[in-house]
Amino acid sequence: MAFALHNYALAMLLLVLAIIPFEATCDSHHHHHHRRHRRPAPPRHKSLHMSLFQHETINKTGYVIVNGVEGGAETTATTTPFGTLFVFQDPLTAKANRSSKQLGTAEGTSITSGLDGLSSISVVKLTLRLKDRKGSISIVGGTNNMKRSDHPVVGGTKDFLFVQGYVTSSPINLKGSTVVYKIGLHLYWPPYPPQAF
Ligand SMILES: *[C@@H]1O[C@H](CO)[C@@H](O)[C@H](O)[C@H]1NC(C)=O
Ligand SMILES: *[C@@H]1O[C@H](CO)[C@@H](O)[C@H](O)[C@H]1NC(C)=O
Repeated sequence: MAFALHNYALAMLLLVLAIIPFEATCDSHHHHHHRRHRRPAPPRHKSLHMSLFQHETINKTGYVIVNGVEGGAETTATTTPFGTLFVFQDPLTAKANRSSKQLGTAEGTSITSGLDGLSSISVVKLTLRLKDRKGSISIVGGTNNMKRSDHPVVGGTKDFLFVQGYVTSSPINLKGSTVVYKIGLHLYWPPYPPQAF
């Protein structure tokens, strides 16, 4: 008998536990309706659009770690043999001038993946020290050495936690030992705007 009573108490406890989340859901549902009735302001969609400049000096901030396949594309300002593994840690500045304020660092690796030697797959962490936001974003994508490339943002840390968006990379100066890329940041924080289509 005591055993049966114990079972009954346990069943009641489980029932109560099952009801609690259900009530919580109903509550928030009700609350939601109430707020919609009062027409709240639409959520603010937070985003950041800005440009930085990446400076890469061969054999100083960027190195070929593994040579590409023999007989692959030539090594020029814009091409490296298929399979070349390149690693870099480049400063990111506010203006194209290297002496302008440094606002971050780009650390990453690229592997030449185009048989013509012109394109590669890049994996990059951008550490950003902006006036009001600090943290990092990680990007992955294809890079064309001659044209603008768009890299999807796969995630972020600290003030960039949960960001989505893309980062553009365009070579603006391929002459000389230091190559300069214009880096365009297009970042969006949740809640995201509804798609236009
Ligand atoms: C970088 O260093 C490698 C190995 O020492 C050398 O073969 C290459 O010519 C250097 N590249 C430049 C642009 O200085
Ligand atoms: C870059 O900035 C430095 C210091 O502000 C200045 O002396 C130099 O002339 C600038 N270079 C160019 C190409 O504008």
